[in-house]
Amino acid sequence: MRKTKALGASVDRVDGRLKVTGGADYGADRTFARLAHGHLVVSTVANATIRAMDTRRAERAPGVLAVHTPFNPLRLRPESSMGPVWVPLQDREVRHHGQPIGFVVAETWEQARHAAGLVRVEYDERPAVVSLERGLSGAETPEHVNGMPARLTVLADGVASVDEALRDSEVTVTATYHTAPQGHAAMEPHSAVAVWEDDTLTVHSSTQGLHFAAADLAMALEVDPSRVRVLSPYIGGAFGGKIVTYAQTKLAAAAARKLGRPVKTVLTREQVFTATATRAATRQTVTLGARGDGTLTAIKHHCWSGGPAGGGFVEPAAHTTSRHWYAAPNIEVAARYVPLNVPETTYMRAPGEASGSFALESALDELAVRLRTDPIELRIRNHAETAPDSGLPWSSKHLIECYRTGARRFGWRERPRTPGSVRDGDWYVGTGMATAVFPALRLPATMRVRFNADGTAAVSGATADLGTGMWTVLTVVGSEALGIPMHRIKPDLGDSRLSAAGFIGGSCGTASVGSAVLAAATAAKKALVTLAVEHPRSPFHGLDPEEVRYEDGRLVGPDRDEDFGALLAAVGRPGVEAEGSAGPGEETRRHAFASFGAQFCEVRVNRWTSEIRVSRMLSVMDVGTVVNRKAARSQILGGMVWGMSAALHEGLHPDDEGGRYANANLADYLIPVNADVPDIDVHFLDHPDTLHNPLGARGIGEIGIVGVAAAIANAVHDATGKRIRELPITLDKLL
Ligand code: MOS
Repeated sequence: MRKTKALGASVDRVDGRLKVTGGADYGADRTFARLAHGHLVVSTVANATIRAMDTRRAERAPGVLAVHTPFNPLRLRPESSMGPVWVPLQDREVRHHGQPIGFVVAETWEQARHAAGLVRVEYDERPAVVSLERGLSGAETPEHVNGMPARLTVLADGVASVDEALRDSEVTVTATYHTAPQGHAAMEPHSAVAVWEDDTLTVHSSTQGLHFAAADLAMALEVDPSRVRVLSPYIGGAFGGKIVTYAQTKLAAAAARKLGRPVKTVLTREQVFTATATRAATRQTVTLGARGDGTLTAIKHHCWSGGPAGGGFVEPAAHTTSRHWYAAPNIEVAARYVPLNVPETTYMRAPGEASGSFALESALDELAVRLRTDPIELRIRNHAETAPDSGLPWSSKHLIECYRTGARRFGWRERPRTPGSVRDGDWYVGTGMATAVFPALRLPATMRVRFNADGTAAVSGATADLGTGMWTVLTVVGSEALGIPMHRIKPDLGDSRLSAAGFIGGSCGTASVGSAVLAAATAAKKALVTLAVEHPRSPFHGLDPEEVRYEDGRLVGPDRDEDFGALLAAVGRPGVEAEGSAGPGEETRRHAFASFGAQFCEVRVNRWTSEIRVSRMLSVMDVGTVVNRKAARSQILGGMVWGMSAALHEGLHPDDEGGRYANANLADYLIPVNADVPDIDVHFLDHPDTLHNPLGARGIGEIGIVGVAAAIANAVHDATGKRIRELPITLDKLL
């Protein structure tokens, strides 16, 4: 593919100015005549049946229009585009603290919130279990988790089980690791504004999948999908937390229909923690078997993942080990489900890879220490030339170059060295590294390209910009595909009425949508040429289509050429357009696809207080074509800061006594601030992966977080000699 100035350059976000000047309207910014406001009532116990709810005071409170409870519900069907789903107010069961159990609608948000506080609830309470440790005895061993077999094995010929391979290994390392449950705390809280007009519902609400959200609402409300439109042009962060359509959207839509007025619902920050969904806590056991030279002979990785009692998304922390990591001939992974009285669980940035790599990459470090070998050399020795589970060769993998380049840029000193041997004044200094891997996925997507008579070209589809830069991706890829400057590209997205562009998640947005833009551009150019040769007023009229080609915004014939805008003006057409679709195909049978990286960090641990400071971090990434260097760097930076957060700060604190997460608010839920974050270096290799898609771009959204927690834990061990196997690594664990 010919490179324009746009592709691979460092491009400012095309929506940046709108965002910093308040011109970008997020869902909850929308307002309408006669707008009413809804507010959730949430449970104050974790496990109970509701005996009664007294709503009389709430109903008499100023401005109140309606109070809905399980005794006076808004009807919602428990179905969604992803299968059966929990919906609020349809029964009297309370499964976790902070569960939506009522909905108050009033003239103002303050009135609705006030009245919600006046609802009195009587519960028949049962004991609750919130923490994974307390729930372990009730662990379930399902056949399938998240639609995958719960247990997977890869065994070499003649090997009966992974345990046999481990017994025959010269060296084994085994350990148990824990990761904390995490709350989705995107800057923009979940919200919805629902408007009915002539039996048609329009919902303004952030979502990662426009068509899926529309389908969810159609199913919940029993209306035809053609009568539901979802708008989500700007999103203040999503990270997996805005894939599923949660209570606030369904309740706002149902209440608006019933009242005959538009209804807006904005969750409080605390409600985001309990009324949407979280990342599950995990307990993981990893056993590595190796020969004396460090060659892995077997890996056994089992994960216990918490979730709501009725079932939920299982954090697939062990499963990733069988897919993308090391060339061990014998691998067994298994997932168990631990039912708890906790909010729903869902996808959160690198679900599985982020949590699983903490265990696997810590264990690798433990093996390196045991064998007195260098952690990078150990990983290179076990480099997977093919995908462990499928045996397929990778489409493009330059992980060893990531290690080598990273070691050079970071100033990695080869091991072994004695942990705790480097000191700078009162600070122990240590370094650590880890591998990062994230699968490169593609989803089917349809996009539309339209040539306009004013010389601009529209690139549109019902895709979403989670804050990741999709507005800019459409502009860059459109410019590349059409050979015209970026200022002539008019991107449009975030409207379910646009072409079905799939959902944005799994780091597959650019690969999926970008490929569809290329297909749409090809189709639109063809439509333009057809118009040019067929229209009597066209200067190309009567030529064979083969004689006319599209080149950088112009149509070029044997003896004439014309700008597409001028051509459209000449024939009196406002525009010509076409859709194009792209998706995964045959290539997935021939190759395995993933992005790779090596991540390094340096920590300083105070010898008196055990305060931990990250002083340097580096990622070297092999992600195929980098479409927008600036946005790509920001993605990796964001992932690394989040990884640092998971490593040192972040986690919901289960309180089995109180039956809740004790810190489900942004005052107590710790995340790094700028003063915690050191200089971060991000370096991209440049190896386009055109076997994956014509653009050559693989995912970059999630890989940035993947290896960071392990790299930090490994650095803490190097600094102090203490191996902390539980996230977050707070200083009390080092004392
Ligand atoms: Mo992501 S966790 O696929 O938004």
